[in-house]
Amino acid sequence: MADYDFDVLVIGAGPGGYVAAIRAAQLGLKTACAESRETLGGTCLNVGCIPSKALLHASELFDEAAHGTMAKWGIKASNVEIDLGTMHDSRREAVKGLTGGIEFLFKKNKIEWLKGIASFESAGTVKVGERTVRAKNIVIATGSSVTPLPGVAVDQERIVDSTGALELAQVPQHLVVIGGGVIGLELGSVWRRLGAKVTVVEYLDQILPGMDAEVRKESNKIFKKQGFELRLSTKVTGVTRNGDTVALTVEPSAGGQAETIEADVVLVSIGRKPNTDGLALDKAGLAVNARGQVETDHEFRTSVPGIWAIGDVIPGPMLAHKAEDEGIAVAENISGLTGIVNHAVIPNVVYTMPEIAGVGLTEEEAREHGEIKVGKFPMLANSRAKTNREPDGFVKVIADARTDRVLGVWIISSLAGTMIAQAAQAMEFGATSEDIAYTCHAHPTHSEALKEAAMAVTGKPIHI
Ligand code: FAD
Ligand code: NAI
Repeated sequence: MADYDFDVLVIGAGPGGYVAAIRAAQLGLKTACAESRETLGGTCLNVGCIPSKALLHASELFDEAAHGTMAKWGIKASNVEIDLGTMHDSRREAVKGLTGGIEFLFKKNKIEWLKGIASFESAGTVKVGERTVRAKNIVIATGSSVTPLPGVAVDQERIVDSTGALELAQVPQHLVVIGGGVIGLELGSVWRRLGAKVTVVEYLDQILPGMDAEVRKESNKIFKKQGFELRLSTKVTGVTRNGDTVALTVEPSAGGQAETIEADVVLVSIGRKPNTDGLALDKAGLAVNARGQVETDHEFRTSVPGIWAIGDVIPGPMLAHKAEDEGIAVAENISGLTGIVNHAVIPNVVYTMPEIAGVGLTEEEAREHGEIKVGKFPMLANSRAKTNREPDGFVKVIADARTDRVLGVWIISSLAGTMIAQAAQAMEFGATSEDIAYTCHAHPTHSEALKEAAMAVTGKPIHI
């Protein structure tokens, strides 16, 4: 330690960075974490996972009370109104509680929070604000930020990104979402439930790229049924604000007749890009790849000894739980233990209603690897989902035809985000579809649909 201020300096206190810092401190390493935000927790806790889920929950309560199935259960709610101010306060309270919780954990684990923007002076030296520190190990966990759409200036009033879309002071009449990915559909769902007309403009021929094709197609149907207007294979060629309205010029992605769409709010959600600007990576001897990411090996070492990287800034899905697991693994590797993340088994959940979740290979990817068997079970035939009037969706289990090993599981269901954990665990243990089929599942639960889909792999579900 003689020459160093810290054993570990983590740059960025998102789910990757703060978890890495806590684990490193737990392992007895003298740890600091540089974070330029006013609060800890990164994108996820401040402007991502948590505030979006707060608004998804609140808007779902409203939708259920105002338009849902409550009346069919004999519960009559009249004059259901939205108090958007209180809804936003509740969202802020959730964020405050959780970001404050991380600050508490930093103090408890004696992690020093270096406040300010960090940039490398050399491979082992980092300047944070006015202070320069040396650390034996440096973990880059600077996360990601919104990808801008060329020629479109986000003003966070009428033309917003995800952060602005969480803060709208009024329910838009017409919200146009550019990008039919996760953010567009989650935040589009929030404002649609609260009363906005929502149009999604997607460049590709289907929403939710990267997911199983059948899941994408079925999700499309469900979102349309909910009232979303989905403009697929369409590109935006211009966005102009005129006072309180915004005019979008769109045309077919392949080229063709242009048209104008009028909106009062436009959400730009076309992806996220790694944060490396201002880090002065070159002074540490590091460079980024063509996608702007910092490359690492399986142990999260960069090409420079003593510098590691995790989370959204490295290749792989941009997900909080992936960043967290990498945070634990990198701290364990730094301290000489063996930290491993199985990138083949990272669940992915879209928190709409119903939720959409997947883990492992899509059916298309699995077919490329060899012969497969697929078992499907509709939620409509699941007793609990049917009773609760949640008939949308299905479970699909994809298994290797020769070994029966589960290669992927895809779920559309009100509880898909919770159900997918079982599939991930089964896959982590190398389960076959038969292992899932012969596991006793509690009745009546939505999870029984996963058991039945596994039974369907070999053609013998009970309830269809
Ligand atoms: P981040 O959370 O981005 O944290 C990086 C931190 O580093 C930031 O706080 C930043 O201020 C700081 N930083 C950057 N550069 C510097 C510097 N030079 N010096 C000091 N500090 C610096 N994922 C899910 O899994 N589930 C979800 O439900 C989900 N919902 C989302 C909803 C929205 C609207 C958005 C935008 C994202 C969502 N995500 C979700 C993605 C998730 O937020 C990210 O995958 C996750 O936060 C990545 O963690 P990270 O630690 O790599 O980076
Ligand atoms: P995304 O990558 O999920 O979706 C972006 C969409 O925009 C794609 O469908 C893409 O084809 C489309 N697109 C790109 N350029 C376009 C253009 N010019 N015109 C029209 N469409 C265009 O990105 P998104 O939704 O911005 O989310 C970013 C990331 O944040 C996600 O990839 C995910 O990693 C993370 N996230 C995760 C959540 C979760 O786990 N539930 C929730 C929200 C975000």
